[in-house]
Amino acid sequence: MTIPLLIDTDPGVDDALAILMAYAEPSVEVVALTVTAGNVGLAHTSANALKLVDLVGADTPVHAGCATPLVRPAEDAAYVHGNDGFGDTGYERSTRELAASHAAQAILEASHAHTGRLMIVALGPLTNLALALRLDPTLPQRVARLVVMGGAVTGRGNTHLVPAEFNIGFDPEAAHVVFSGWPSFDLVDWEATVRQGLAFEDVERWLAADDARARFYASISQRTRDWTRERGRGGMLVADALAMAAALEPAACTRVETRHVAIELDGALTRGATVVDWEGRMGRPANARIVLEVAQARFEARVAAALGAA
Ligand code: RIB
Ligand code: CA
Repeated sequence: MTIPLLIDTDPGVDDALAILMAYAEPSVEVVALTVTAGNVGLAHTSANALKLVDLVGADTPVHAGCATPLVRPAEDAAYVHGNDGFGDTGYERSTRELAASHAAQAILEASHAHTGRLMIVALGPLTNLALALRLDPTLPQRVARLVVMGGAVTGRGNTHLVPAEFNIGFDPEAAHVVFSGWPSFDLVDWEATVRQGLAFEDVERWLAADDARARFYASISQRTRDWTRERGRGGMLVADALAMAAALEPAACTRVETRHVAIELDGALTRGATVVDWEGRMGRPANARIVLEVAQARFEARVAAALGAA
């Protein structure tokens, strides 16, 4: 029996790779894509999600969600992903329609349709998931596993508020709702992403595969790969793909630490930080299984397979 998987996402170049990884895994069925603003605006992230469903020849419903964070406005990441979120290549838009129900409603519907079996992988800001949780606080009881890409567990983030990682920093209030309302979830953070980059030459070899997915991904990721090289990074950093590898292959998570993680909402320099109680001083139950390492060979095998390069 396949595992029903709902992906909440803000595609986004690394989201796209993660989503291709999910569709390439026969043991899971992608039952819904729920889309939020984040990397770029909701109109683009929604269009990008519809395009990915076309690319893999699926009929997965795509539900648009929140166009803004819960409370305060936030800057997007168009400087990384392009103004359209997919490298500004002008790709041919899908003619597919968005599903009627809001992403938050779709999350609840999926939790009832697949009670006790649903896996949710959250690859963007947590706005949709937070709304779903506020609509129905019993949601976690029906979800078998939640994997979140977000945070920086020792304060080395990737935003102008140094300890904050983009997904959490874009909507800290939403992250607080999820981190304080979800008893136990897996967390794959930015620092693990930086430790587990993909060598450019390997990526370029995989992108040369004679496969529509490789060709499309080569096109939409060109800008991000160029930008990454220009910044002097040693390889391509694909946070969402690492989180998806952890989600699809729990046995590949070779280092995991379970701790309490809370979200800073007010610090002038630290808003959006994921504050980890490493020494157990806060006296609060551990809510996060922090994935510190995914077996690199397994991670890369899944990336290659997602591009038809295996
Ligand atoms: O910090 C990395 C995360 O922010 C990834 O999910 C990327 O897609 C962006 O959303
Ligand atoms: Ca993302």
